[in-house]
Amino acid sequence: MTTSIHDPHAATPAFELNGRRVELAGSDPAGSLLRWLKRQRLHGTKEGCGDGDCGACTVALIETDADGRSHYRAVNSCLLPMGSVVGREILTVEALADGDVLHPAQQALVDHSGSQCGYCTPGFVMSLFAGVYGGELNDHTTEGNLCRCTGYAPIRRATAELATLDFSGDRFAEGLRRERHSAGEATLGNYFSPVTIDDALRLKQQHPDAAWIAGATDLGVNLSRGQVVASSFIALDRIAELQQIEKTDGGWRIGAGVSLSRLESELGETIPALGEMLRWFAARQVRNRATVGGNLGSASPIGDLSPLLLALDATIELRGPKGSRQVPVADFFTGYRQTIRADDELIVAVDIPVSGATCMAYKVAKRQSDDISIVAAVFAIQLDEARCVRHARLAYGGVAATPVRATGVEDFLLGKLLDATSVEMACTMLLEAFTPLSDHRAGADYRRALCASLFDKFVAEQLS
Ligand SMILES: Cc1cc2nc3c(=O)[nH]c(=O)nc-3n(C[C@H](O)[C@H](O)[C@H](O)COP(=O)(O)OP(=O)(O)OC[C@H]3O[C@@H](n4cnc5c(N)ncnc54)[C@H](O)[C@@H]3O)c2cc1C
Ligand code: FES
Ligand code: FES
Repeated sequence: MTTSIHDPHAATPAFELNGRRVELAGSDPAGSLLRWLKRQRLHGTKEGCGDGDCGACTVALIETDADGRSHYRAVNSCLLPMGSVVGREILTVEALADGDVLHPAQQALVDHSGSQCGYCTPGFVMSLFAGVYGGELNDHTTEGNLCRCTGYAPIRRATAELATLDFSGDRFAEGLRRERHSAGEATLGNYFSPVTIDDALRLKQQHPDAAWIAGATDLGVNLSRGQVVASSFIALDRIAELQQIEKTDGGWRIGAGVSLSRLESELGETIPALGEMLRWFAARQVRNRATVGGNLGSASPIGDLSPLLLALDATIELRGPKGSRQVPVADFFTGYRQTIRADDELIVAVDIPVSGATCMAYKVAKRQSDDISIVAAVFAIQLDEARCVRHARLAYGGVAATPVRATGVEDFLLGKLLDATSVEMACTMLLEAFTPLSDHRAGADYRRALCASLFDKFVAEQLS
């Protein structure tokens, strides 16, 4: 077969699996790669949760960035719709060993007794594999992989050993140096992957019931459970214009399609509150696919980027058939999982102004990694030389039907000397500022207490 997997006019949609071209005509575009692999009798990739939580299904997706450099990215195959793999390259655990010789990521787990029942092991192997070639070998490499019987100490030792090895000359490193282009336009059944915003908007006119889909870490959970999400999908993950991160006169412009891993590595240090929030956002496999636009598009009251964007006075650019408009994040959320965005509008970018305020993010969840927030809080405070508050933003997720600012407390703080008395008063007000729900994650009283104690912590850590 000579057709390129990147050729949008190719008669048959295809992808490259473990170095072999595989045609996908007739495959269910909304079905997950994991289920598809099972049907091909590739049983190395395991199913644990089917929800993106356990990492047993991890595979390596080869992605080529705009600069032409390719990377192995660990992703959860249970969340990857088949429509999204057309024209792409994927490696599963079956591709790693060379005959009887295990890949060092596998051998290290053997040598350090990093596996007992072995069910989770292929997922760990694939996360370590991607970490080896991506330059990340620490606890974050496998934070999205759960092991229920070995214990993590041997796995950490295996990770530490891998960090001492040089992989630059092996066949997988060579494979990354092969010339490639970013994945191009593609269609699999009712799953359309355009490469321009105009084409995406045009497709939406033709298919008004279609759902936008980006990294599919949110929608993929529904699809993985077999729920009917939409009659068709318009994928946004190949549109170069949505992938830009630009320094502007007033701050930063972040394309809606930028993955959270990229945001973390490119802006995590420049905007420390962003870096801190992303450190605890889901896990590596999810951050490798999840996007800024998807986080806002899901309109979740516990979406972790929302309080950050609220605290930073960010603006969202929406584009639809009638043109573009800028909406302050403060006006974006209108109700529980509802936003000002019309169904045929796309989130194109987020503009974050540079701020002189001290800003930090806090996330409280049941476990540190790979868990969603009980309460997320982001504070931005600017003091003058006399320690009087010149600017105040106190933004929260998890305490109301939408991400929300404590505007009453912000108004109280403005102009006040930030001292023990005003902080104590602000904390008292914060205890009463919202009426959060009690659910299986936490009680309402605990959430209210967090609103106050996180602000207290922020002042003690950042402004004392
Ligand atoms: C295991 C796991 C852990 C998670 N942990 C966290 C967490 O810690 N914090 C958190 O906030 N979230 C978390 N999530 C939720 C999810 O990963 C994020 O919300 C993510 O940012 C969604 O981005 P996406 O690109 O994958 O969205 P998708 O699933 O592709 O889309 C989500 C929604 O946004 C819409 N959409 C996507 N892009 C656009 C656009 N450009 N314009 C308009 N609409 C758009 C889609 O139509 C859909 O309704 C987690 C999910 C999983 C599976
Ligand atoms: S099966 Fe658990 S993350 Fe995919
Ligand atoms: S080795 Fe059994 S769950 Fe990890």
